[in-house]
Amino acid sequence: MADTPVRRVRTRHFQAAKANGTKITALTSYDALTAQIFDEAGIDFLLVGDSAGNAVLGYDTTVPVTVDELIPLARAVASSVRRALVVADLPFGSYEVSPEEALHSSFRFMKETGVHAVKLEGGVRSAPQIRRVVDAGIPVMGHVGFTPQSEHGLGGHVVQGRGDAVEKVVADAHAVEEAGAFAVVLEMVPESVARRITQELSIPTIGIGAGNVTDGQILVWTDFAGLGGGRMPRFVRQYANLRQTLADAATAYREDVASGAFPGPEHTFED
Ligand code: KIV
Repeated sequence: MADTPVRRVRTRHFQAAKANGTKITALTSYDALTAQIFDEAGIDFLLVGDSAGNAVLGYDTTVPVTVDELIPLARAVASSVRRALVVADLPFGSYEVSPEEALHSSFRFMKETGVHAVKLEGGVRSAPQIRRVVDAGIPVMGHVGFTPQSEHGLGGHVVQGRGDAVEKVVADAHAVEEAGAFAVVLEMVPESVARRITQELSIPTIGIGAGNVTDGQILVWTDFAGLGGGRMPRFVRQYANLRQTLADAATAYREDVASGAFPGPEHTFED
C-alpha cells in the first residue's frame, strides 16, 4: 500500500488495498522516534500495542497493562506520524465488561491521544463491544486466533485453529466483520485457516504468525529489529540486530570514558 498516493492512510484505503491485492504493512510503535522512522519508511499503520507491556514497561505479559499506561505512548506515536494510520490497543480489563466500557475506553484514546482507531481482542465474545464502538464513529480493528491478553486462559502461546478449533477461529473472524470492524489481526493460526478467512471476509486480514496469505502483515518492532533478545517466535524475521549494535555502542562509550578518549576537544566548549 506504500505507493498509494495518499496523504494520510485511512480505513477506506484498507478496503481498497484488499480489493487491489496490495499488501498492507504494519509495525508496532510505542514512542515518537520509531513512529517517525517507520512512517517515513512507508509502513501503512502503526499499532500502539499492549505488547508495550513486554517491550517498554517490563511486564512478563500484556495482562497488567492499563489505559493510563498506554495513553502517553499512543499520544507520542500519533503526534509523530504524517502518513501512517495509528491504532491503539484497548488493554485487558478496559472493554470486556460491557459495550459501554469499551466505548468509554475508546473515547479516552480518541480524545486524549489523537490515534485514528482502536483494536480489541476476541471474536464472538467481543462483537457487541465492536458494534458499540463502531456505531459511535470510531474505527475498530479486531484480533482473533491467539489473543495475548488471554494467554493464561489459552494455556500459553499456542497456535489456535488446529483440528476441531478451525470453526471457532473462522466464526470469530466473521463475528468481527459483522460487528463492523475495518480489519482483523489473525495471530498464530495455521496458514490454511488464514487463507480461508482471508477469502471469506470482505475486510482485510493482518497476519502475525498466519503465513503469507493474509492481506497484510504486522510484527512487534522490537522483534523485527532484534532489540528484544531471547528466543524469537518462529514467525518473526529479524531485519536488524539492534541489541548487538546498542551493546557495542555502550561498550565503546564506556571504554572511551574510562580511558579519557571521550569527550575530545571537538566536544568541548572554549572560554
Ligand atoms: O500488542 C501487540 O503488539 C499486538 C500485535 C501482536 C498484533 O496486538
